[in-house]
Amino acid sequence: MSEESVAGQATGAAVPLVVLKSVNKHFGALHVLQDIDLTIARGEVVVVIGPSGSGKSTLCRTINRLETTDSGTITIDGRPLPQEGKELARLRADVGMVFQSFNLFAHKTVLENVTLGQVKVRRTDRREAEEKARGLLDRVGVGAQADKYPAQLSGGQQQRVAIARALAMDPKVMLFDEPTSALDPEMINEVLEVMRQLAQDGMTMVVVTHEMGFARSAANRVVFMADGRIVEEARPDQFFSNPRSDRAKDFLSKILHH
Ligand SMILES: Nc1ncnc2c1ncn2[C@@H]1O[C@H](COP(=O)(O)OP(=O)(O)OP(=O)(O)O)[C@@H](O)[C@H]1O
Ligand SMILES: [Mg+2]
Repeated sequence: MSEESVAGQATGAAVPLVVLKSVNKHFGALHVLQDIDLTIARGEVVVVIGPSGSGKSTLCRTINRLETTDSGTITIDGRPLPQEGKELARLRADVGMVFQSFNLFAHKTVLENVTLGQVKVRRTDRREAEEKARGLLDRVGVGAQADKYPAQLSGGQQQRVAIARALAMDPKVMLFDEPTSALDPEMINEVLEVMRQLAQDGMTMVVVTHEMGFARSAANRVVFMADGRIVEEARPDQFFSNPRSDRAKDFLSKILHH
């Protein structure tokens, strides 16, 4: 089944939001992204999995241009990724990114963390920005922590603040790169629950994760990467019950049996 029809089944009409065409990238001699073609529809949730070093993080980082590419094109909502300057800052605001490490500003309160980008990049009035920040902090379940500093919060709480901070920019798409892998087990679910809710609310999401339960329950599509290539993509039920490639079979047998 084609990528478009998989996405289309999940979302009704598949309107492409993020489109990568023949994207290549090298780190020196390493061909880290090899002819990547990937179309993500509006409202679609794509989980990216694959062995360590296969290029998952690099793929995410090229989508908001934290990494440059050597060839190919990336468009978001029909617009090619800008090279630099103000346009790039605006693009970055359209693409929310949540990393494994929470990357909050340590010397700013939770509220300030979620307010700052709105004021600096979106030029939102501060009072309005704070109001929105409080609403988002409530939505991710940490409204009571607004006046604390990041170090006073648990990892799960900090990660939810990071999600609220990204959402405050009204991103068109959210990228998550192993958002729960630095968390203690009891905190993983509270973060996944926020992500599940976001998915249900129709956010377009690209999620690199080892949480196969999340992939099964929230993803419209699983993309399996190995050695810089997209080896296989399918609906989660198909992928997990009937992986086609040997690489995917091998990978799944390792992660599902330990
Ligand atoms: N800035 C860099 N300079 C040189 N090589 C890099 C750089 N970033 C990543 N690499 C290499 O590119 C390859 C892909 O890395 P990437 O982080 O995208 O993999 P990954 O699939 O996210 O792996 P993991 O599951 O361990 O997070 C790896 O071999 C890595 O060592
Ligand atoms: Mg990675």
